Amino acid sequence: MAAPLPIAWLNGAFLPLAEARISPLDRGFLFADAVYEVLPVYAGRPFLFVEHIARLERSLGEIRMRSPLTRPAWAALLIELVERNGGGDMYLYVHVTRGAEEGRNHALNPALAPTVFLMACPLAPLDESVRLTGVGAITLPDERWGRCDIKSTSLLANVLAKSRAADAGETEAILLANGKLREGSSSSTMVVKDSVLHAPPYGPEILPGTTRELALKLAAEAGIAVCVGPITEEQLRTADEILLSFATRGVLPVTRLDGAAVGAGRPGPVWSRLAAAFEAHRQALAGTPLLPAG
Ligand code: PDD
Repeated sequence: MAAPLPIAWLNGAFLPLAEARISPLDRGFLFADAVYEVLPVYAGRPFLFVEHIARLERSLGEIRMRSPLTRPAWAALLIELVERNGGGDMYLYVHVTRGAEEGRNHALNPALAPTVFLMACPLAPLDESVRLTGVGAITLPDERWGRCDIKSTSLLANVLAKSRAADAGETEAILLANGKLREGSSSSTMVVKDSVLHAPPYGPEILPGTTRELALKLAAEAGIAVCVGPITEEQLRTADEILLSFATRGVLPVTRLDGAAVGAGRPGPVWSRLAAAFEAHRQALAGTPLLPAG
């Protein structure tokens, strides 16, 4: 994983990331009392800006906080961060904590000023081998908390699941509960059966994925049938294709699940069509405004 880009933003000021400091009494540090976003940037333009900021606002609302900035202020700030880091392709990390305390108190203190931290990271182009052979995943029981719809930095269960995947030499851990598919440790998961693209329904147990929503929209526009509904473990294991989607990587084909081939064992036709539609969409957005006029 490449090191982040040099310029960050912390509590109102741009500064070298190497000089950014927060208090150990910050509730983000003490309690993971914080939410975050990860947005890709293509050709200097944050991608799905409104969707990411809307999800950040929702995550903050669910933890009884308000967004510290308006949408136009977020847009200006993110664009300046991109420019200060040289523009081009990258991804942005946005982290808002409830702020620094005078002591360690579980109960909320509404008077605290939030800590807002932004950094930019390189976005390496997709390895050609992924297009040719896809990636592998393992399955694991979902051991996370009951509000995975909030994009919280409380990610210990995700971290441990991803590490189990890495131990197995695979890219992702796909989480299951009560015999049903949930999502990946850091991605949404979809499956294809008989040319229909299936995605699990949203609820407190999974994160609404910005990339997944775009993928479903582009699929429908391309004439691919889309079905949102519960997906059983059996349907996952007998899928023709399994797809992962996440902001930093778009849509990836899973060709190996728990060591067994998925479908034909290579990236499938629905993935290829979606990947092409995604690329066309990305290029069509180049140079367009981040926010609707007015
Ligand atoms: N993760 N589900 C989980 C648990 C995730 O962590 C992510 C993204 C997604 C996909 O959401 P989106 O398409 O909006 O990126 C689903 C980011 C990339 C991360 O934590 O780094």
